[in-house]
Amino acid sequence: MSEDSAHIAARMVTPGKGLLAADESTGTIGKRFKKLGIECTEQTRLAYREMLFTSPDLEKYISGVILFDETIRQRASDGRPIPELLAEKGIIPGIKVDKGLVDLPFFPGERFTQGLDGLADRLDEYRRMGARFAKWRAVIAIGEGTPTSQCLRANADALARYAGLCQVHGLVPIVEPEVLMDGAHDIKTCRWATEAALHEVFDALVRYRIVFKDMILKPNMVLSGTDCPRRAPPDEVADMTVACLRRTVPAAVAGIAFLSGGQSDTTASANLNAINVKAQTMKTPWTLTFSFSRALQASPMAIWLGRPENTAAAQQALIRRARFNGAAGLGQYDPETEHAA
Ligand code: 13P
Repeated sequence: MSEDSAHIAARMVTPGKGLLAADESTGTIGKRFKKLGIECTEQTRLAYREMLFTSPDLEKYISGVILFDETIRQRASDGRPIPELLAEKGIIPGIKVDKGLVDLPFFPGERFTQGLDGLADRLDEYRRMGARFAKWRAVIAIGEGTPTSQCLRANADALARYAGLCQVHGLVPIVEPEVLMDGAHDIKTCRWATEAALHEVFDALVRYRIVFKDMILKPNMVLSGTDCPRRAPPDEVADMTVACLRRTVPAAVAGIAFLSGGQSDTTASANLNAINVKAQTMKTPWTLTFSFSRALQASPMAIWLGRPENTAAAQQALIRRARFNGAAGLGQYDPETEHAA
């Protein structure tokens, strides 16, 4: 008998564990490889991701991995399909199912996520390949007069329609409305935009009859814009983020797993930790963990560089970040340990 969705969702947010987002599109991973001089081919992408997934003890800190379409179809060097390799370690395989962003006509600077056509068939195929959860990312930009209510509404409706299809086809949906860090805005503006985005998303999820206990929310942390002269410290990020979630997210949601969104790996850990410390004092009803791509992968990728002799050191770097973020998910991360040998 296959495991039910509520159980999968609960396992995804097991306290002390989080998700590794390794679902970069070919273009995105290509850009990251290029900066480090790593050749980007189907083989190098597989070698890199196999290096990540075979890291010893990964399952201690990572409950699930989000794969890209190319990777879920690939086999590890021992011949095992990648989803099987993960499942045998006790890590739940997941899959990114959106098809990326297009400009929203008549709304300069705003975008809309595509991929609903044919999604039901793709979900069935991914489930047969071993995926047990899915991810869809909507992107909300802060700028002059944005986000608009039209952009928020269009993206929220698409997220809700995606989530419903996932639930009917036996996959746990990760619902990801990402308010981008880009811009000179202050943290209060990010809080306003994040609250507006989450309000719209949960309104749509209610209208489309989504089962909250069988879904995971993947939000941004509430942060100062990248070009804002004042960087809000972790305590303030935590206050604003927890306040925003308490005002918008129903208690029945199975769990919350933050994206890192371009924060440095140490900043993301410090902010996740502060959020959990705050959440404990406020007695919030959800597990608050991580679903990071860049904040988990930056250091192992920079060590690996496509060279097999760097595998062990790169894997250690991944485990180190996964362990720190696992601790941050419990409010037990100590930044001092970053400097320890
Ligand atoms: P980052 O943690 O790099 O923001 O990526 C998470 C993700 O999966 C974005 O969709």
